[in-house]
Amino acid sequence: MISCTTVQKPDIRLHYDLTTLFYRLLWGRHIHHGLWDLDANGQADTATLSATAAAVRLTETLAQLAVIRPHDVVLDVGCGMGGSSIHLARTLDCQVTGITLSPFQRMWARQAAFWAGVRKSTDFRCQDAERAEFPEAHFDIVWSIECTEHLFDKPAFFQKTARWLKPGGRLAICAWLAGDAPLSESATKQVYDVCEGFFCPSLGSRDDYAGWFADAGLTLVEDHDWTARVSRTWELCAERVRRTGVRRLARLLHQDTVMFLDRFTTLLRAYQTGAMKYGCFIATRP
Ligand SMILES: C[S@@+](CC[C@H](N)C(=O)[O-])C[C@H]1O[C@@H](n2cnc3c(N)ncnc32)[C@H](O)[C@@H]1O
Repeated sequence: MISCTTVQKPDIRLHYDLTTLFYRLLWGRHIHHGLWDLDANGQADTATLSATAAAVRLTETLAQLAVIRPHDVVLDVGCGMGGSSIHLARTLDCQVTGITLSPFQRMWARQAAFWAGVRKSTDFRCQDAERAEFPEAHFDIVWSIECTEHLFDKPAFFQKTARWLKPGGRLAICAWLAGDAPLSESATKQVYDVCEGFFCPSLGSRDDYAGWFADAGLTLVEDHDWTARVSRTWELCAERVRRTGVRRLARLLHQDTVMFLDRFTTLLRAYQTGAMKYGCFIATRP
């Protein structure tokens, strides 16, 4: 695991309060990577799938792998603007609780759920996942796309998650990963720069996550390296930052927000060099 000790929780909250609008403008309702198929040359098939559609594809693929059933009770950890929660409520009639650190995102998600007609089947809360408590064996699914990167004590979080799941329940995770150990000095620096720019106190490797699941008594049933299928995301984001005036807008808001826009290419490079990977995991509570 690579850690960045300068990241503080209030900075993560502020980051999402300030950047949610940028993500919405640059990307869409889902604040996560897109998932493309690869052609024979290993290139993402962007001709047939737009960035927005690719983000929905990632959500749908994770839902299929987690075998989410109609009416499942779902916890969406780090729910952002409610993209996944609303999707699961709308397409599968799931009953979803979404938690986010950001009061702005909670407000946005509630409003979006209202417009999507799923206000009654969604419950958005401004809550820290590391301090949250839910009844034992309450959820069929604990779902988290690109939030565990922001958690300070990831092993403790997975221990809690295992208790919240019903027996047979599934944990569905997509996460930015540090590359496989041992990492060179320059790869470690790349991961550190990403952690700093995107407010991640640490990034675990694939083996770290597998170990945390096992220690929590969870059985890993799906384990995918989607790095090549998601990397195009950052080329498109960097292009959009260049073409639009968002950097000027960011400068007016906060210097750290500008740093985050400038780190898009750092992340892309980290994927290209193997310093970072993108993982998808499904684990079950036996
Ligand atoms: C990259 S966004 C992903 C949002 C959403 N999962 C999606 O895919 O659209 C990361 C999310 O994690 C949330 N987050 C970060 N740390 C958190 C914490 N300790 N507790 C709850 N949410 C947290 C942020 O507020 C943000 O909503």
